[in-house]
Amino acid sequence: MTATLEETARAIVADSKGLLAADETVSTVTKRLATHAIESTTESRRAYRELFFTTPGINEFIGGVILQDETIRQRSANGIPLVDVLVRQGIVPGIKVDAGVRPLAGSPGEYVTEGLDGLRERLEEYRRVGARFAKWRAVFLIGDGLPRTSCLQANAHALARYAALCQEQDLVPIVEPEVLMDGTHTIQRCEHVTGRVLHTVFDALADQRVALEGMLLKPNMVIAGDECPRQAPVEEVAEATLRVLRRQVPPAVPGIVFLSGGQDCLLATRHLDAINRLPGPRPWTLSYSYGRALQDEALDAWDGKSENLSAAQFAFYHRAQCDSAAVLGRYGSAMESPAAFA
Ligand code: 13P
Repeated sequence: MTATLEETARAIVADSKGLLAADETVSTVTKRLATHAIESTTESRRAYRELFFTTPGINEFIGGVILQDETIRQRSANGIPLVDVLVRQGIVPGIKVDAGVRPLAGSPGEYVTEGLDGLRERLEEYRRVGARFAKWRAVFLIGDGLPRTSCLQANAHALARYAALCQEQDLVPIVEPEVLMDGTHTIQRCEHVTGRVLHTVFDALADQRVALEGMLLKPNMVIAGDECPRQAPVEEVAEATLRVLRRQVPPAVPGIVFLSGGQDCLLATRHLDAINRLPGPRPWTLSYSYGRALQDEALDAWDGKSENLSAAQFAFYHRAQCDSAAVLGRYGSAMESPAAFA
């Protein structure tokens, strides 16, 4: 029996689990590896991804992994397809399907995500190789007069077309409209823009008849720009984030999985925990789909050396355990002491 879209969406975030975003393009992962002077080859990228996928016990905290085209076709050092390495642990494999951002014509300084051409056929193929969900990321810059309505509408339309195509191919769409942290804007401005973005996206999803029960939303948290002189405290980020989600995200959506977007590992955990401690209705599961905030500590510990594999896996396990506790609003700074996990 095949699981319905809603069952798959719910399974990914069940039991306070979240997602590992391991879908950096080859060029992005090459930049990350270069920060540790690790040469980026097909083999080193495979070893890097495999480190995460084979971390003992990681299926307690990770319900899904977002892969990228190269990785979904690779095999482990033991010759097992990486997709099967995940499936055998009960982790749902997914795939990034957008083709990246390009400058939006007529809207200087803004971007539109491309990749709709031929998407139906690519989704069919990804499903055959084992993907059960997909991801498409749109980005919005906050600036003087930005984002413009033209940027909101072009990206929302593409996200909705992508999501409808995914559901047609029996894949759960992860809809990722990311308001970027870059800039000097205040947290209030981020809240306002995030609200406009989500409003436009859900309007477009309704127009394209996307079944909200069978999707996941991957938004940014509401945070001041990285160059804003006033960085809001954790509580304020949590309140602003939950307020905008309550106003804009219908309760039919089973799960909201935040991106980390450049927050460091600790802050991404603390923000998620604070959001899940707030009183009042939260009709969706609020969890994580972190890339950098789940990988950075492990990459530091690994440093491209096989003798560091267990230390790197421990770092990843520990961070995922903290993030999973944050989904329950049960994270505390004591969990950062190694003794807490001995
Ligand atoms: P970050 O958590 O590093 O922002 O990555 C998440 C992601 O998938 C971006 O598309």
